[in-house]
Amino acid sequence: MPQFKYVGEKFFAEKVSIEKITSKNKTPFYLYSENQIKENFLNFKRSFKQVNPIICFAAKANSNLSILRLLGKLGAGADVVSGGELLKAIKAGINPNKIVFSGVGKTEEEILLAIKHKILLINIESESEAKLIDKIALKQKKIINVGFRLNPNVDAKTHKKISTGKAENKFGISIKEFHQIFKNKERFNNLKIQALSVHIGSQILSDLPYKKTLGVLLKIINELNIKLKFIDLGGGFGINYSDHEQLINFNNYAKLVLDFKKKTKCDIIFEPGRFLVGNSGILVSKVQYIKNGTNKKFIILDAGMNDFMRPALYDAQHSIIPVSRSKNKNKGTIEFVGPICETTCKFGKFKNYQKLNEGDFVAIANAGAYGSSLSSNYNTKPLISELIVNNKKIKIIRKKQDLFKLINS
Ligand code: LLP
Repeated sequence: MPQFKYVGEKFFAEKVSIEKITSKNKTPFYLYSENQIKENFLNFKRSFKQVNPIICFAAKANSNLSILRLLGKLGAGADVVSGGELLKAIKAGINPNKIVFSGVGKTEEEILLAIKHKILLINIESESEAKLIDKIALKQKKIINVGFRLNPNVDAKTHKKISTGKAENKFGISIKEFHQIFKNKERFNNLKIQALSVHIGSQILSDLPYKKTLGVLLKIINELNIKLKFIDLGGGFGINYSDHEQLINFNNYAKLVLDFKKKTKCDIIFEPGRFLVGNSGILVSKVQYIKNGTNKKFIILDAGMNDFMRPALYDAQHSIIPVSRSKNKNKGTIEFVGPICETTCKFGKFKNYQKLNEGDFVAIANAGAYGSSLSSNYNTKPLISELIVNNKKIKIIRKKQDLFKLINS
C-alpha cells in the first residue's frame, strides 16, 4: 500500500493523517487513495503495453460509482456480472463498447439490458444461455456479439473458494461441450461468436496456471480453426496481503500473451479487479471495547463482518494497523473482533501487538477489493461510508446508509 504509510507515529493516507480524518468522520468507513488506484492502473497498462489490451475492470471488486468513474476516465472498461453492475458502469461513463458481461446465471432482463446498451461482449457460460440469447436476438431481429467462457480445467493454485477454472467449478463451458456447441453453431444463427473467454480464479500468485490456460486456448482455437476477434483472458492477478507473497512477473506473462496474440491474431481483453483496487483501500475502525477473555484479550471494533467479509469467508488475513503508533506492547494475545453475532466476526489474532485503548483507531489493510462490495446489512446494520483521498483532499464517495430507511422493510 505505497500510498498509505506512517509519517512519524501517525498513519497517513497520501498527505492526510488518518487521525485527522477520524476527527471529522464517524467510523467505521472505507478510505481509498485516488493516486494508488491511478498508479495501479497505469502500472498494469504499462506492463502489457505491447499487448495493448482492453482493460475491463472487474466491477465486483469495488463497484463504488466514483471509483468506476475514476477508472473509466483512465481508460478502463468494465467486466460486469449483473444488470446492476452494468448500469453502474454505464452511469460512471464507461463506454459500453468496453463492457463485457460474465456470469453463469444471467436473467432475461439482464440480457435485454446488455443488448439494449450494445455492450462489447456477452460471455456465455452454458448452452442454455446461448439458446436464450439467440431466442431474444431473433425476436429483436439483431445479431448479438458474444463470447463463450471456457472452463479450461486448470488449477489456479489459489484458495479453493476463489478458484473458478477447474472442472468441478460451475464456471464456463467444458472444452468438450464447446466442441459440440461449435459444431452445431448454425443453431445459434443470431449470435456472432467474437470471443473466447476464461477466468480461472482470483489472488493468483503463480504464472504457471496462466501459461497452461493459454495452451488450452491455443489448442482449441487451432483444432476448431475458429476465427475470433477477441480473447478475454480474465483477471485473477494477486496482490501482497503480506510480505510473503511473491507476485506474478508481469513482464514474463506479457511476453507469453504477446506471443499468443500474434499466433491468434486476436485483440486481448483482461479483467483485473483486485490488482487495480486491492491495495488502494483501508477500513478504518474504532476500538469500541476491550474485554479480557480467558486466554486472550478481545479488541472489539465498531466494524463487523457485515462491513468486511473476507476474513469470515476465506479466512483471509489482513494486517491491522494502529492509526497512532506506539512502542508500548501488549504481552499476551489479542484478537480483533466485530459486533456481529457470529463467531466468525473476527479479523485476526496477534501476539505482542502494541497496547490499544478503547477509543483508539485502527486500519484494516488492503481492503479496497471485495471489501465494500461484499458488505451487507446483516444484523440490520447500515452500509458504512466510503471516502477517497487525493493528496490533501478528502471526498465522501458514499454516505453511510440511513438507518431509518433501512428499517422500513
Ligand atoms: N472476471 C471474472 C469473470 C471474475 O469472476 C472475477 C472475479 C474477475 C474477473 C476479477 O478477479 P480478480 O482480478 O479480482 O481476482 N471475493 C473474493 C474474490 C472473488 C472473485 C470472483 N471473481 C475475495 O475476496 O477474495
